[in-house]
Amino acid sequence: MPSLAGPFAAFDPTDVPEDPVDLFVEWLTGAVNAGIKEPHAMTLSTVDPQGRPSARVLILKNVGDDGWQFASGASGRKGKELADTPWAALTFYWPALGRQVRVRGAVAPVSEAESARDFLSRSVSARAAALIAKQSERMVNRNELDLALVRTADQVEAEPGLVSPDWTLYAVDADEVEFWQGDEQRRHIRLSYRRADAAWTRGLLWP
Ligand SMILES: Cc1cc2nc3c(=O)[nH]c(=O)nc-3n(C[C@H](O)[C@H](O)[C@H](O)COP(=O)(O)O)c2cc1C
Repeated sequence: MPSLAGPFAAFDPTDVPEDPVDLFVEWLTGAVNAGIKEPHAMTLSTVDPQGRPSARVLILKNVGDDGWQFASGASGRKGKELADTPWAALTFYWPALGRQVRVRGAVAPVSEAESARDFLSRSVSARAAALIAKQSERMVNRNELDLALVRTADQVEAEPGLVSPDWTLYAVDADEVEFWQGDEQRRHIRLSYRRADAAWTRGLLWP
């Protein structure tokens, strides 16, 4: 099967913002404008106490001065792994643009109030699903899920201000961000930003 077949738009790595968040927003906006489905979906990688990685797809909820934010239950696998080893990598890939973005950094939960705000912005069924708070536990029978969803959806309807204490908005404080632009001739561009203290430096990497 072909890969990176292009053609892709040109990317000039010498004409970029100082802050990788600004370039990320440019690229994400480009992905939105290109009609890419779920351009804010990303792979979140964490490790367990033995250093074994696990990865899964999540939605990027916010990005800016307060980091790269995602939301999830804290009691599932990723929540446990992050509580033990608060470091993560995020990977975005927009195939139609031949673009990948890699982010690495320390992870911390944001305030309870912001997690609650994120929770309350979810649909009734999404709130009901999160309230069950059994993510990543072994399921014996799928009927259990249907029953639990009906029960918790009723609860959400009855108490619209109800917030799951398990629901957590996390922020990745990036110290490394890489922008990868694919090229049909394999002259791929890798632009790496690294943060030391508050300052970002950037440079090219061999593809
Ligand atoms: C497109 C897509 C978006 C997803 N978004 C989220 C999300 O924002 N939060 C979340 O907890 N799980 C999300 N999931 C489910 C996760 O991939 C994963 O199955 C779940 O979080 C359990 O992961 P864990 O067992 O490693 O904790 C999403 C899955 C897909 C395919």
